[in-house]
Amino acid sequence: MEHAYLIDIGWVDLAYLVASVLFILGIKGMTHPRTAVRGNLLSAWGMLLAVVTALLANGLSYQWILLGAVIGGAIGAFAAVRVQMTQMPEMVALFNGFGGVASVLVAGAAFVAAADPGLQTTIAAGLSGLIGAVTFSGSLIAFLKLAEKMPSGSLGFPGIKAFNALLGLAALAGVAWLAVDPSSMLAYWLIVAAACVLGVTLTIPIGGADMPVVISLLNSYSGLAAAATGFVLMNNVLIISGSLVGASGIILTRIMCKAMNRSLGNVLFAEFGGAASGPAADDVYGGKVKSTSPAEVAMMLDGVQRVLIVPGYGMAVAQAQHVVRDLANLLESRGAVVEYGIHPVAGRMPGHMNVLLAEADIPYDKLREMDDINNEIAQVDVCFVIGANDTVNPVARTDPKSPIAGMPIIDVDKARTVVVVKRSLSPGFAGIPNPLFAADNCLMMFGDGKKALVELVAALKEG
Ligand code: TAP
Repeated sequence: MEHAYLIDIGWVDLAYLVASVLFILGIKGMTHPRTAVRGNLLSAWGMLLAVVTALLANGLSYQWILLGAVIGGAIGAFAAVRVQMTQMPEMVALFNGFGGVASVLVAGAAFVAAADPGLQTTIAAGLSGLIGAVTFSGSLIAFLKLAEKMPSGSLGFPGIKAFNALLGLAALAGVAWLAVDPSSMLAYWLIVAAACVLGVTLTIPIGGADMPVVISLLNSYSGLAAAATGFVLMNNVLIISGSLVGASGIILTRIMCKAMNRSLGNVLFAEFGGAASGPAADDVYGGKVKSTSPAEVAMMLDGVQRVLIVPGYGMAVAQAQHVVRDLANLLESRGAVVEYGIHPVAGRMPGHMNVLLAEADIPYDKLREMDDINNEIAQVDVCFVIGANDTVNPVARTDPKSPIAGMPIIDVDKARTVVVVKRSLSPGFAGIPNPLFAADNCLMMFGDGKKALVELVAALKEG
């Protein structure tokens, strides 16, 4: 094989080892908000070391790399500046896809260039083509769904599962063909073509509230594709970092499945067309919704002891986190205890609410996890639901046919009084009505999250 530099030049492996240790320490740091920034920095240093080492270790033609880096860097910088915080999930989906297609192309090119690829290189190239292409097309569909450029619900056709099984078998047959005849580029392209279609047909039936799970699964796939490419190139740091991405993506997928009380199989292979049946919005809300005003809520808050704030996607859209902090400070200065109830899939990406509240300098120890706060929620005097909907929808507990059936929620309906801040009675991500809004102990404070809370803070100060 042509990869003698790995064996001959000890410093390359040493540098890769240091980079890998930095990646692992970085991931460890990211498990806690207090150490997350340092963790991120450590990983970034690890990546710099890995990239510089790879550039110095190989006999490369730098002009092409420079051209690619300038074009890619410019697109990346532009996207980073332009993208809104609420668009991050679709951006992550798109970048996962780019990771997948990079693996397909790099593994394919290295495979073509290898004079006499052994069985390991051949199989690794085939798997890289397969997983990378599924990741690519699956991520594009996830991006289009999240960006609402295509319907976000379950799509498909009868027999889609059998079709997928056939496609999967065809792609695996392509890998076997390649193993038998490594000179056949036709086999490689068959794998890539079948896997591209498979990525689409695996992802279109998944919709609604299940998209976050799919994104983290695709993230994991992009890591596995990179690891397979690492075996084609015999590049240790790519094998290790790809495996780390693959493993952490799977762990995150598990955590999200648990947060939604679903098995992965159920998310991926739920019956297409089993559309959610449920009561219409008019039946749920008709004549039962009570609306309130900031002035009224300000009066109600007089002498209140315990307040819980439950944020959701709408707080991110309204960018209301700073005024949420002002409201909390004001209530605390009047002797109330204010805490925050954080649902693991509130918002549109893992940790979305934590990031926003940290941005507003809200102390981390005031954030309570769902299970934890649910045990005490009956003692909460006033619960503010700010732009959250699905994550506080009681039908998850009561209606087994609902698309969010079984998903654990924050039981805000069990607080003494609930004030919901949102613009209208529109549904959340899962597209279903929320009987909380019609509950006896619930008041709707309609309006943009930020504007409504600014008015509430002003009314409290006046009062
Ligand atoms: P959602 O159920 O999506 O509801 C958000 C609510 O925010 C909407 O009902 C909307 O009502 C309101 N809103 C929008 N703009 C607002 C504004 N400017 N001011 C005030 N309210 C505003 O939110 P959630 O409870 O956070 O649940 C998240 C959902 O997204 C779950 O179904 C979850 O599975 C899914 N999801 C999560 C993730 C991750 S990883 N977190 C990723 C993708 C999808 P109005 O239009 O009436 O204002």
